[in-house]
Amino acid sequence: TSVFADTLILNADAALDVKTGKLLSPATIVVEDNTITSISKRTPRNAPKNARIIDLDGHTLIPGLFDMHVHLTGDAQVHGYKRLRRTVPRSAITGVRNAKRTLAAGFTSVRNLGAGGYADLALRDAIYDGDVPGPRIFASGPALGITGGHCDNNLFTHEHQVTAAGVADGPWAVRKKVRENIKYGVDVIKFCATGGVLSKGTKVGAQQYSLEEMQALVAEVHLRGLTVAAHAHGTDGIKSAIRAGVDSVEHVSFLDDEAIKLALKHGTYFSMDIYNTEYILGEGEKAGILPESLDKERKVGAKQRASFSKAVEAGVNMVFGSDGGVYPHGDNGKQFSRMVKFGMTELQALQAATINSATLLKQQEKLGSLEAGKLADIIAVPGNPLDNITLMEQVTFVVKDGKVEVDKRTAK
Ligand code: ARG
Repeated sequence: TSVFADTLILNADAALDVKTGKLLSPATIVVEDNTITSISKRTPRNAPKNARIIDLDGHTLIPGLFDMHVHLTGDAQVHGYKRLRRTVPRSAITGVRNAKRTLAAGFTSVRNLGAGGYADLALRDAIYDGDVPGPRIFASGPALGITGGHCDNNLFTHEHQVTAAGVADGPWAVRKKVRENIKYGVDVIKFCATGGVLSKGTKVGAQQYSLEEMQALVAEVHLRGLTVAAHAHGTDGIKSAIRAGVDSVEHVSFLDDEAIKLALKHGTYFSMDIYNTEYILGEGEKAGILPESLDKERKVGAKQRASFSKAVEAGVNMVFGSDGGVYPHGDNGKQFSRMVKFGMTELQALQAATINSATLLKQQEKLGSLEAGKLADIIAVPGNPLDNITLMEQVTFVVKDGKVEVDKRTAK
């Protein structure tokens, strides 16, 4: 504790220990520079006189939230063929707006799973340098996928010869693509193990990479000390991805008992975007989502929610992943109430978005819970979210890295 440290003192009705579910009430958190130095029932006697004190009456303090699946450079109003008019620089600028909205919603850390032209890395670095506000970004750059797969671009004819940047076929080609992404500075690797809803001409249930390719890809990622996320809706693709050793499976729409058993055995995390379906079916057509994608969504949404209930019941490791960018950034918190509706306790939903996600990112020593010694990523909601999970849609106060980034409380 240096006498020169900047000190911030947050007084609130309560602070949530996400590891145990216990509420400390009342609660005072002391932050020095970017680190939490104490959590107690009242202001410690030795708190510096020049500290900035913020009274958050009626509020509960929670660790900064994590969303493990976003596309900050994507725009919910711009889907399908409309996307073809979006250049990489234009998407990066949209990303600046979206990063701000995401942070304001209480999400202080996100994993960005797929962006063209490494725009997500540029955004990450601009936020880190303090040019623009936003969450901590763990970025993947272009997602890997097979020719003609969900992570390719299939909107053109053969005459245009368009192939997405992440396309690689065969074990050595995927290893090379992983190496290329790492060379340009990604934090995490994303690949497409099955078809998807929003891509043209892919079967949502069908596997795309072979097990052999996935094994090579995952081995290469782990060799280099990174983690890997697999987009997978269909059961065979989910199982192959888990067997290959991925760290998380995204979407996870069609589950069977064997897939759940495999996930439990391997400790695989599931990141299930169960809010997404409401936006796609409600607003998607206007936004340019293809009719075939809307058809696929009608077959996936309800199944995915049933799979979510089963996975929660079985005790699979769950994180919060929403696919923000398909629906509007900033609405991320709406998924909490759906997670509770489809089988989680309020605490489990909050753990998914905090300590579990921090652990998936191997950041659990620094982030994911309110503890002395951890980085000061702290949010406040007006009430107790264990009683009313929709409060997670009303984040009013956000501290990231010890800095007050958002204060939406009405002046008293
Ligand atoms: N990006 C995903 C895909 O295109 C979105 C899936 C959304 N649907 C859902 N029910 N989660 O496959």
